[in-house]
Amino acid sequence: MKHVVILTGAGISAESGLKTFRDSDGLWEGYDIEEVATPQGWQRNPVLVQQFYNERRKSVLEAKPNAAHVALAKLEEKYKVTIITQNIDDLHERAGSTNVVHLHGIITHSQSSKNAKLTYPVNGWEIGMDEICELGSPLRPHVVWFGEDVPMIETAMNICTKADIFMLVGSSLAVYPAAGLVGYVGHEVTKYIIDPKIPAIYNLMQLIKIEERATVGVPKLVDELLND
Ligand code: APR
Repeated sequence: MKHVVILTGAGISAESGLKTFRDSDGLWEGYDIEEVATPQGWQRNPVLVQQFYNERRKSVLEAKPNAAHVALAKLEEKYKVTIITQNIDDLHERAGSTNVVHLHGIITHSQSSKNAKLTYPVNGWEIGMDEICELGSPLRPHVVWFGEDVPMIETAMNICTKADIFMLVGSSLAVYPAAGLVGYVGHEVTKYIIDPKIPAIYNLMQLIKIEERATVGVPKLVDELLND
């Protein structure tokens, strides 16, 4: 069974109503990323950061998977599929994808602020400032902030080397190490890029650019692959 590896970014969830990062002049929901998505921001103002992610979690819980998420789940009918996502939403899982690697964590979970390996499902949309982990330290969102390690990156690199078909959907490739993953896909492997504004990619072989929104481009490509 051929192995399809898909790297997704914020663009695949844009049509589910979840904002992307770089389409809105570097602010995320009106906040400077430094303020809310860095360990320093958490040290400076944990209440602001906790509230910011509580608001994001509420939007994620209210959002629905779109036709692109659903199409990628359908791909599992005929292919081995691994989704490597930079997104912290759970829309791939809710669409039915069974093999999702979250490079930047997932907002439906919290983690100990003392030991990142201790993670817990969040009940509802809020993590309270009074909630503590088994070590007694405050719970924070289970997301990878700028400047923090990306624990799943080696796993993701390894998966990319095993791709028979590769897709990049809805990412500006602005953030490393995620952006470097395309370099781990074999030269001879066909690489589809689906994005209304295709990001600049240099010296990649077998590139097929699909300049479409995810809900248009992904279902079309999935239908082709299922009828291949
Ligand atoms: N369909 C497909 N792609 C879209 C759509 C859409 N409807 N709308 C926007 N896009 C594309 C944009 O053209 C852009 O290339 O999605 C991409 C969004 O890029 P970013 O906002 O930079 O998101 P992403 O690449 O996921 O950012 C990576 O940066 O801020 C950090 O940790 C955060 O995971 C995030 C990482």
